[in-house]
Amino acid sequence: MQTIEEKIQKLKRERGAIIIAHNYQPDEVQAIADFTGDSLELSRKAAELDEEVIVFCGVHFMAETAAILSPEKKILLPDQFAGCPMADMITAEALRAKKAEHPGAVVIAYVNSSAAVKAESDLCVTSSNAMKIVDSVPADKTIIFVPDTHLGHYVQEELGREMVIWDGYCPTHSRIRDVDIKRELEDHPNAKIMAHPECPLPIRDLADYLLSTGQMITHAKESDETEFIVATEMGLLYRLRNENPEKKFYSVSDRALCPNMKKIDLEKVLWSLEDMQHRITVPEEIADKARLSIERMLELS
Ligand code: 13P
Ligand code: SF4
Repeated sequence: MQTIEEKIQKLKRERGAIIIAHNYQPDEVQAIADFTGDSLELSRKAAELDEEVIVFCGVHFMAETAAILSPEKKILLPDQFAGCPMADMITAEALRAKKAEHPGAVVIAYVNSSAAVKAESDLCVTSSNAMKIVDSVPADKTIIFVPDTHLGHYVQEELGREMVIWDGYCPTHSRIRDVDIKRELEDHPNAKIMAHPECPLPIRDLADYLLSTGQMITHAKESDETEFIVATEMGLLYRLRNENPEKKFYSVSDRALCPNMKKIDLEKVLWSLEDMQHRITVPEEIADKARLSIERMLELS
């Protein structure tokens, strides 16, 4: 009898499909994926792939970004309800109202946003390139940064550049508390703290490094440091531990879990290939505008 993993691999070949997964996906989903990465790496990958069918194991805005970059491909999200609460904290209508308050402002949207919000924006950023992209905007321009208040304030403080910042946030990263980090630090005084810039200020203040998930993977691999406290969603520990078996990684809290990322499992990946569901598409007029802001980001990063 075939295992579910074998069934997925067989069907994937028959469908001419590829499976890509975000670094927060459940371990067993990351294990069967052809490629895992952070938001920027997945956007780039989706744009350059030859396969007609991409099973996108992540959340809705990520699959939407892939569909915008490759409208001719079938982008399948194994659970159509895997969303991102932070992306839902701003609508295109609310953004238009904010733009009306600041005529001529440059709108920068974190990729954790809907296609309709990206279509109202001039530039996209991810956590790995936000600093560089904000810095590329001429100093005399007002910037509206949406929707993540924590990433926005981190960039604002680092660059010393005042921005109009939306008040969205990631509920998962907001659950990480400074006491969690201090407790881990007491147990592991030599460990370095890697935190995601979606974390609130008290966590950012404690961190040795503020990095995207992909940058954490690279840093852990390339640095001489051997012990890390990891302040982001727990799914990242799978790759960190697998790719660095000689190093130690401590999760800050089992509350650092994104329920939406965990909606995807092996059964849903199999059903997705069986039924070719759930195809994510974006209306052409929105996709055409949103593509410009994503492509500008890809060029600049
Ligand atoms: P990364 O781009 O660092 O993978 O982050 C995506 C995300 O959703 C963080 O919560
Ligand atoms: Fe959205 Fe936070 Fe989940 Fe990332 S971890 S997908 S920002 S809810």
